[in-house]
Amino acid sequence: MAYCPYSGFPVGAAVLTTGGAIITGCNVENASYGLTVCAERTAIQRAVAEGYRRFTAIAVTCDIKDSFVGPCGACRQVLMEFGTEWDVYLTKPDGTYKKTSLRELLPLAFTPAHLQKN
Ligand code: THU
Repeated sequence: MAYCPYSGFPVGAAVLTTGGAIITGCNVENASYGLTVCAERTAIQRAVAEGYRRFTAIAVTCDIKDSFVGPCGACRQVLMEFGTEWDVYLTKPDGTYKKTSLRELLPLAFTPAHLQKN
C-alpha cells in the first residue's frame, strides 16, 4: 500500500502488540518531501490511534534483495517512545529475516524515563 511516487521505494511495517494484534503501515510520501512519513511511524501511529501502546515486535520490509535494511534513526526514536524491549525483524522479499532489537539499533537512547529524573 506504500504511497511512494517520488522515491519509488516502497516500505512496509507491522507492529505486534502485547495482546497479539498486528497493525500495519506503509510509507506515505508528499510533494513537500520532508513531510514524508516512514512505514514504521505510520504503523505505530495507527496503532496508538487504535488504542494500543504496548508492543513486543516490529517487522520491516522493503524490496532490497541482497541485504537486511533497518529502520531510519527517526523511526528508532519513535519506537523507543513506546518501549525499550522491542524485537525488530528485518525482512527480505524472499521471506528471510534477521532478528535484532531496538536496544541494539539505538544504544544509549534518550527515553521518556529520562524526563522523570530531574
Ligand atoms: N522509509 C521508510 O518508510 N522507512 C525507513 O526506515 C527508511 C525510509 C521510506 C521513506 C521514503 O518514502 C522512502 O523510504 C525513501 O527514503
